[in-house]
Amino acid sequence: MWIPSSVFRRKNILLGVSGSIAAFKACNVASSLAKCDAHVRTVLTQSALRFVGPVSFISLTNDVAYTDEDLWNMKLRSLHIELGRWSDVIVVAPATANTLAKIANGIADNLLTSIVLGSDKPLVVVPAMNVRMYENKATQENLSKLRDHGVVVVEPEIGHLADGEVGKGRFPEVEPILFSVAKTLVPQDMAGMRVLVTAGPTREYIDDVRFISNPSSGKMGYALAEACALRGAEVTLLSGPVNLDVPPGVKLLTFESVADLERLMDQTVPSCHAVLMAAAVGDFTTSKVAGKMKRQGNLELTLQATPDVIAKYTQKYPNVFYLAFAAGTDGVVEEAREKLARKQVDAIFANRIDEENTGFGVDTNSGWLINKNTTEEAPLQSKVDLSWWLSERIICQIRAKSETFQS
Ligand SMILES: Cc1cc2nc3c(=O)[nH]c(=O)nc-3n(C[C@H](O)[C@H](O)[C@H](O)COP(=O)(O)O)c2cc1C
Repeated sequence: MWIPSSVFRRKNILLGVSGSIAAFKACNVASSLAKCDAHVRTVLTQSALRFVGPVSFISLTNDVAYTDEDLWNMKLRSLHIELGRWSDVIVVAPATANTLAKIANGIADNLLTSIVLGSDKPLVVVPAMNVRMYENKATQENLSKLRDHGVVVVEPEIGHLADGEVGKGRFPEVEPILFSVAKTLVPQDMAGMRVLVTAGPTREYIDDVRFISNPSSGKMGYALAEACALRGAEVTLLSGPVNLDVPPGVKLLTFESVADLERLMDQTVPSCHAVLMAAAVGDFTTSKVAGKMKRQGNLELTLQATPDVIAKYTQKYPNVFYLAFAAGTDGVVEEAREKLARKQVDAIFANRIDEENTGFGVDTNSGWLINKNTTEEAPLQSKVDLSWWLSERIICQIRAKSETFQS
């Protein structure tokens, strides 16, 4: 998961479950949020009870699950108002066509719709239904009304539906749902910023099947892309060959060689406010032999230095904010300071690759964020948390530079 653990921790999330065939998938949403240390309370509609029961949600969230009976239980005074006050965000997942219609039109005839009508907290709805129910003009009008009211609508997926049909209306995976919920809980302080993140290794081919590369997993760049997307930035992620799920809310373009990366950067850097270079760009390339070289005696490989990608862009587009990464051993901080000046980047994150739990491949990292006048040490943490840490620190610098940016 690309969302930092702190985003959901101790947040109050009201999960509304309505009567869709996908109601059982709400258990996964409840459990994922609870694992992220959110307080999750569930409200089930009468129809939802045909598919799932409160016991599942009580067990998965270790918290209360309510049904319509509780609306009239006067020991819990004005439960529908209390629960709205308690929530940081309300998530209706799955949201039936019926419940969406009620919310869009201010109908409050059960506990869930009464809570929604009586609350001013962010609302996320996750429609799930048969394709024709979804495409029905009435449903589409209700969804556009909800969007106009500021409700976050998580798009259903296209795929296999109940009753053997295929089309749009499938309950999405849990990641895009959590992404949309998380966005309502964090400041959108990167809204309006266009951010380019590079991640993963490059490959320089020796022949058709062999290449020179490095062990970069891409995790740092992917996490950084998601941190910026969560904060509201429009993020393009340029990725080398990695084995990672694409973070929700991010546009992915892929590269193999340094030359491919440069081509993509030529297209994207000019319209960006920030470039975050977490890719492990190879320093050498070689002439590629066509076909597959035969095993024979000693072969010599001639390496040529690749162009200094980042230095090219800092020269050409000086109004863009640049964060570079430097991996090294002893003296990595001093090397990074020298690199900062030489490449004219705004900041460098330096980390050691010779210590356990930092650098290539692993899920954790630590290091130093180096700016022109300051150096701040980042403690060992997950790459996801470290990306959040970094995003918090670079926002002001990006903003300061973009004031001079011509869009
Ligand atoms: C087997 C079955 C599956 C259903 N699946 C869905 C569904 O996926 N989405 C939907 O909008 N309605 C679905 N419905 C219809 C709703 O359950 C019905 O509109 C109900 O009134 C919704 O009530 P609620 O919105 O209060 O939960 C289904 C009905 C049945 C009998």
